[in-house]
Parts: sequence; structure tokens; C-alpha cells
Amino acid sequence: MGHAMDTQVKPVVSSRIIATLTGKRILLTGASGFLGKVVLEKLLRTVPDIGLIYLPMRANRKFPNAEDRFRAEVLGSSVFDRLRRDLGDAFEARVAARIRCLPATITASQLGLTDDAYQALAGSLDAIINSAASVNFRESLERALEINTLCLDNLVTLTEVAGGIPLLQVSTCYVNGKNPGDAREAVVAPASGRLARHAQGYYEVRPLIARLQAEIRELSAAHQDPDAREQALIALGQAEANELGWTDTYTFTKWLGEQCLLESMQGRTLTIVRPAIIESALEEPLPGWIEGVKVADAVIMGYARGKVVVFPGQRGCVLDVIPVDLVANSILMALAEALQDPGEQRIYQSCSGASNPITLGQFIDLVIEESRRNHQSYPRLFKRPPRLPFVAVDATLFGLLLKGSQLPLQVIQRLLRIREPEAKLKLLESLATTQQLAALFGFYTAADYVFHNDRLMALAQRMSPVDRALFPVDPSAIDWANYLQRIHLAGLDRYSLTTRRSQK
Ligand SMILES: NC(=O)c1ccc[n+]([C@@H]2O[C@H](COP(=O)([O-])OP(=O)(O)OC[C@H]3O[C@@H](n4cnc5c(N)ncnc54)[C@H](OP(=O)(O)O)[C@@H]3O)[C@@H](O)[C@H]2O)c1
Repeated sequence: MGHAMDTQVKPVVSSRIIATLTGKRILLTGASGFLGKVVLEKLLRTVPDIGLIYLPMRANRKFPNAEDRFRAEVLGSSVFDRLRRDLGDAFEARVAARIRCLPATITASQLGLTDDAYQALAGSLDAIINSAASVNFRESLERALEINTLCLDNLVTLTEVAGGIPLLQVSTCYVNGKNPGDAREAVVAPASGRLARHAQGYYEVRPLIARLQAEIRELSAAHQDPDAREQALIALGQAEANELGWTDTYTFTKWLGEQCLLESMQGRTLTIVRPAIIESALEEPLPGWIEGVKVADAVIMGYARGKVVVFPGQRGCVLDVIPVDLVANSILMALAEALQDPGEQRIYQSCSGASNPITLGQFIDLVIEESRRNHQSYPRLFKRPPRLPFVAVDATLFGLLLKGSQLPLQVIQRLLRIREPEAKLKLLESLATTQQLAALFGFYTAADYVFHNDRLMALAQRMSPVDRALFPVDPSAIDWANYLQRIHLAGLDRYSLTTRRSQK
């Protein structure tokens, strides 16, 4: 009841964001993903008279039909529990009236649609939100380039055919790469300093992309075995990213994508929204709502299962976490601005590091405190009471510790296997888990950069109090103890660790 009141009666009359989005037809990519679902839910719930939301959806092995996949994997998600409860029988009618699922592939020219279907789509669009990406840090360079960089040209073309409509690109604060210090809402220079900057501000990456594509072709021709080819393309991405100033292929290709957009949308309406590490919802649609295991959660999970006890990171460094609802609100607020005031290129960061920082040490202490005190409340997360300590250590010390403990353990495992060939030493498995996590996430837990969000906060200030209340974006309101101990751990336990679908 309370929710229906909040979102459907009073604010509708005075919210400029809702007024702007009302009647608009928006193409949203990545709706099967974590962030995309929250954006979709918020649009459907708070803008009841939105024109249409088009969702390009690829088929997968389980669902060869895109519409079936949408019903099962998107509509079936618990992200819609609140709206189902609010609307009751009217839920299906709202979906039928407002959502069009498209069997489309954004990496293909014309999104893989027939000429007629493509023209019809372009003729009925007011804006595009691109949330699709490969967020795999160790993706093959070929796939990462395709979805994080090259396919943006297809979306730019669609904005042109549609008559110059705005494009909102979801990027990441981590395009900052290895640059230390203050990371502002501006074009990022590569930390290597090795690429040329255009007078218009963006970096000229097209020749670099052509060279990367040539290398991909060469490596592909050299490897007949698909696994060897895959490994070679992963290694290529990693090497190029490192060389040019990033720690992984994901953030490197997202940065390349930003440059392509800034170049091809000169003088056009482009908004780039860069989130930091996205975690469970602070409030909407439900406190703690989350899907899958995210960056910081892999570490929490490892700890809960007694597998991770030391981790490379500096206790004093800031872990830039931002709840998913604040990110979705930032996207919708920035989209409303782009529609109201077109013709500009804008960059916003949705992050907590500068305005309400939480350090890795505080994060760990809060999680451990709650786990020890209250682990029974999170039965899926904690199979047994946590006993081990969880310590963040300097990366060099971590490497030495890992080497020091791994070698003797490997010898013991080999001895055990003389008698029992399948024998696995549990501790060795734990070390392997820690090592994998560390390789992936170590960069995020030893930050020497700070992400700033002054422009996003200024945008929120330009909005009315009603819009700020309906679409909160300000991370300084987060009480970290309450968020981590009451909301996030419960959300992980309740939403991440179950295959539970919506309760109809
Ligand atoms: N999660 C974070 O902490 C974080 C932080 C900063 C920025 N971001 C950005 O936020 C956006 C959303 O991330 P997320 O966490 O929601 O990721 P996610 O859960 O992995 O979802 C990714 C989405 O992209 C789609 N996608 C991936 N590869 C595709 C391809 N080749 N063709 C078409 N669609 C493809 C996926 O569709 P399928 O289901 O069909 O694969 C899915 O809908 C991304 O742009 C990401 O860079 C995320």
C-alpha cells in the first residue's frame, strides 16, 4: 500500500523527471542483466504512462525464443515482486502495454532486424539506454571489443536513423585504469600516456582498434584448437590493457567504447554514466535486492564458506561501492536531463568514494562483526559459524604468504595421492580460491584513486526536491553499518544465493 502511494499518486503531479519520461519510447539494452533489471523495474513502476520500453533480447540455449526468455529470466525475477504486489492483477496489463521484447542482437548491423523492422523501430524511438556489456575482467579481447566497443557504432547509427535521439551509455568509473589520484567526471587519459588526444577532447582510438582487430585475426589463424585460441585472445586483451594503462580487458574496452562515442556523437546528445562497484539495493525495489555474486561479494562468500582468510588489499584504501538503486536513479535522472536539454555531451559518476568513503578495513570489520553476531540469520551464506579471521595484507606480503604455504601443501597433496589418487587437500583448494579472487579483485581493494561525483550532485541539485526524493542519487545518505549489516548481507542471503523467482 505504502509503495503504491509513494510512487503512483502524489509525485506524478510534480515530478519533472516523470513528466519528461511520460510518453517516451526508450530502447533499453542489457535488461537481462543486474543493473538493466533495476532500471526496467523503476521505469515501469514510477512512470506508469511511459510510451514504450523496447528490450532487445538475444536468445540463449535454454530459450531459443527471445520472448520466452524475457518472460522467464526478466519478468520472472524477484525484482518485480514489489510491483506485482502493488498492481495485483493489473501487473500483466502494465507489462503488455509498456514493454516490447525484440528478438535483436545489438552486436549485429541493424541489430540483426529486417529492414522493415529496423525502420519501424527507428521511427518510434525517443532515447536509448545502453546497459549491455561483458563485465568479465578476463574476457577474450574479440568478444569484449565486440560488445563493449564496436557495437556502440550500431547504436549510434540507430540514434541517427531515429532522427538524432539521445544515447545514454552506462560505462564504469574503472575506465580510469591505472591513473592515481582524483578521478573526475571527464574524459580519462590513458595512464600510459601513449595515445593521441583530439582537439575535441576524446582520444583517437580507431587506428588502435584496427590494429587490435588485425592481431585478433592473426592469433585466430594461428590457433586451430578453440581452447588454445580462447586462451590466446584472453592473454592478448590482458597484455594490451596492461601496456596501455588498464588492469583488465573489460575496463580497457569500456574506455575504448567511451572514446568511440565521444567522437561519433560530436555535437549530439550523449550522456555517459559511470558507476563504481554496484552492489545490492539500498531501498528500491526492495532493500538488499541483488542478483548474482558481485565484486565485493565474492570475497564475503569466500569468507562465509571459510575459504578466504587473507586477502591482498590495504585496510585504509577506499572500496568504492554504490547501491544499484542509486545507479538506476542516476541513469533516469540523467536521461530526463538529456531529453529536456539536448545537444550536449555529459559525463556523470555514480560512486561513493569522495563523498561518503568506506575503507576496505571498515567494510571487512562490519561484515565480520555482523557475521559473528548474527550468522544464523543468514543460513544460506553461513553453513556454520564463521571462526577464521579475515585479514587484508599488503600485496607483496600476500604473494609471499601464498607461495610459502602453497609449496609445502602441494608436496603433502602429492604424497596423499600416492594412496588415494583423487585426494584433494581442502586448504589447497582454499588457497586456489583466494588466489583466483585476488588476481581478479586485488586492483579494486588497493585503490590509489578517488572517484568524484560533483557533477552528478550538481545535476541532482538542479532537480526539484520531489525528483530528488523519488530518484535519490546521493551516496552521502548511506549509513554503511546499516547498509552492510542489515541490508546487504540479508540481500545476499535472500536473493543472491537462491534460484528463487518471483512469488506470484
Ligand atoms: N556490476 C557492476 O559492478 C558494474 C560496475 C560499473 C559499471 N557497470 C556497467 O553496468 C552495466 C550493466 O552491468 P551488469 O552488472 O548489469 O552486468 P550483467 O548482469 O552481466 O548484464 C550484462 C548485460 O549485457 C548483456 N550482454 C552481454 N554480452 C552481450 C552481447 N554480446 N550481446 C548482447 N547483449 C550482451 C547481457 O545479456 P545476456 O543476458 O544475453 O548475456 C546482460 O543483459 C554494464 O555496462 C557495466 O559495464 C557494472
